[in-house]
Amino acid sequence: MQSVKIGILGLGTVGSGTVNVLTRNSREISRRAGRDIEIYRAADRDLDKPKSCDTSNINLTDDAFEVINDPEIQIVVELIGGTGIAKDLVTQAIENGKHVVTANKALIAMHGNELFALAQEKGVTIAFEAAVAGGIPIIKAMREGLAGNRIEWLAGIINGTGNFILTEMREKGRDFADVLAEAQALGYAEADPTFDIEGIDAAHKLTIMASIAFGIPLQYYKCYTEGISKISQEDVQYAAELGYRIKHLGIAKKMDSGVELRVHPTLIPERRLIANVNGVMNAVVVKGDAVGPTLYYGAGAGSDATASAVVADIVDIVRALTTDPENRVPHLAFQPDALKDTPILPMNEVVTSYYLRIHTLDVPGVLADITRILSDEGINIEAILQKEDHGGLVPIIMLTQAVVEKNMDRAIEQIEALDTVPDAIMRIRMESLGG
Ligand code: NDP
Ligand code: HSE
Repeated sequence: MQSVKIGILGLGTVGSGTVNVLTRNSREISRRAGRDIEIYRAADRDLDKPKSCDTSNINLTDDAFEVINDPEIQIVVELIGGTGIAKDLVTQAIENGKHVVTANKALIAMHGNELFALAQEKGVTIAFEAAVAGGIPIIKAMREGLAGNRIEWLAGIINGTGNFILTEMREKGRDFADVLAEAQALGYAEADPTFDIEGIDAAHKLTIMASIAFGIPLQYYKCYTEGISKISQEDVQYAAELGYRIKHLGIAKKMDSGVELRVHPTLIPERRLIANVNGVMNAVVVKGDAVGPTLYYGAGAGSDATASAVVADIVDIVRALTTDPENRVPHLAFQPDALKDTPILPMNEVVTSYYLRIHTLDVPGVLADITRILSDEGINIEAILQKEDHGGLVPIIMLTQAVVEKNMDRAIEQIEALDTVPDAIMRIRMESLGG
């Protein structure tokens, strides 16, 4: 049988890994796909730049449009990233009747709705397993493996760079900037690393997972997004003393009134498996009504690990080349005409418990003032820790019971207005992530 010809756009970290995995495992992959997969062409902006893969048998070009316009190519693999040229290339490839595989979460989260509609019209597939949690097959697990469930919530460590930074800070007391530089050198970070640190990358991934979990259109701009750049060694240590770990989580929950969609640093009990996911590893807990909680764990970034997901998508498409477009697995798990307009809840309506770190002056009555304000806003204190005087200020650490966010916003505003509280309060939301 004739081989399937693919064209790869971008030969950086993931592109090189894809060439390496396809080459190294070609026999095993052909046995699975039922056809040989031939890397017919590849494009990269700078062909003189050394590549981490063998390109000697590939017809290379520095013009990616040559690849997507090549009539021999059936599958275009977009590994350039971003929403600029990558969007033009993917759109044109679909217009040309080609299937697309991409690792580009920004593109899918922000433009997936229109791209999927176009793909459906043209009878082609856009596959994006590598866009969420690197090598973990979480899209396939949710879209197919959990198809019998009503998904209630999911929570995940879905940015390898951020988890690497938090782990190194906690385990080795390393400096934030120093660990970030290492993550960049290892190829984990996005082209703009603020995407990793400020939660934008995680919000892209969470947006995609939430749509697949709940059958709603992609709504990236409604995702609440908070990064890890304000997390200090102090908070990491206090959390540990109280039996918690700070993780940067993406959380999507189906509530009666809508869907919570939020990315923020989160305290989770250290006994939870997900609290012990370290380094560049990712993990996602998905709670289905029938199966209960399930956990998916693996490398969230890196060359070969991400290539594993890219190649799996290529194999899926090759296997499905002869099936009717109507009979393929829908992009967002639910049939396109069955998506719901369930609202995404504003953050101030979300209910969680909190970790608060309050630096106060060492004067009588300050704790009484703080507890009075919390009590007036209906906030119950679960635990309280007063540390030694630290440069003239006394750190007070509190864990609260669950409260609606708008009450906590009001309480924080009032406490910060006290003369005895000179610094901004550090607030970190908490999740128990119990079954
Ligand atoms: P890299 O920057 O390592 O690779 C991108 C490659 O595309 C570079 O070689 C770049 O060249 C090239 N390129 C840029 N513009 C063009 C163009 N117009 N035509 C042809 N080639 C071009 O990025 P990654 O491999 O890390 O990421 C690729 C995608 O995979 C992104 O969407 C990313 O979010 C996603 N991803 C990355 C993971 C990772 O671990 N790195 C994991 C999961 C997903 P140049 O270097 O000269 O700019
Ligand atoms: N920059 C991303 C991360 C790559 O660190 O998780 C994988 O999507």
